[in-house]
Amino acid sequence: AVNRTPLIAGNWKMNLDHLQAVAFVQKLHWTLKEAKHESESVEVAVFPPFTDLRTVQTLLDADKIDFALGGQDLSAHDSGAYTGEISGQFLAKLDARYVIIGHSERRQFHHESDEVVAAKTQAALRHGLVPVICVGETSEDLEKFGASAVPVGQLEVALEGVASDADIVVAYEPVWAIGSGQAATPDQAQEVCAKLRAVVADKLGADAAARTRILYGGSVKSGNIAGFMREPDVDGALVGGASLVVHEFAAIIRYQK
Ligand code: G3P
Repeated sequence: AVNRTPLIAGNWKMNLDHLQAVAFVQKLHWTLKEAKHESESVEVAVFPPFTDLRTVQTLLDADKIDFALGGQDLSAHDSGAYTGEISGQFLAKLDARYVIIGHSERRQFHHESDEVVAAKTQAALRHGLVPVICVGETSEDLEKFGASAVPVGQLEVALEGVASDADIVVAYEPVWAIGSGQAATPDQAQEVCAKLRAVVADKLGADAAARTRILYGGSVKSGNIAGFMREPDVDGALVGGASLVVHEFAAIIRYQK
């Protein structure tokens, strides 16, 4: 992670309503403060459900809490007759900096294709949001093609037409590691993240590849974060389950290499 600010991101998925979100963010903030967290070296981001965003934004603003805010998805469209969809404009208005795109749960349960992921990436960039583009192989993919072929292919499509100066984040989440308690090894994560960085270099150029943060996600917890963060091409983590437990998430943020 040479010269790149590590990003520790909490994807809450469909957990915590807006009242629970307030209590959670306050507790996390105080836990980090008490531990004298040196926050300047690590960026922390939370990705609450849409219905929590306004409340969490107000709290971060009022209490001057230095967490970035992100949405878990967005529409490929900007406005109009798309019942149930959320526009990137709305997220940007709420000071969201990031938006997760192409999470495996969206790909699996909402049939989002690589083309939809690419269109959503464009939508995020149009509204000044940083897309957190998720890629990863299922256990069947792993058996058939090895670890990197599927995530590499997914990222190639997502980056089609993206400008070389665009600010993006990539998250490598092997589907078999998500919520399974069976994380990839740091070596496995490094190998795929290095290949994903090569895709960024190929599509957006060497400067973008040097600047872009690539995260690992899948059963990250306080006990294994340091191993991932020691790898040169892993610049942070996208955390699911452990991001919902204050002391766990705080310990992940305070990882020691
Ligand atoms: O987006 C993060 C996520 O998919 C990983 O989930 O619960 O394995 O940390 P978890």
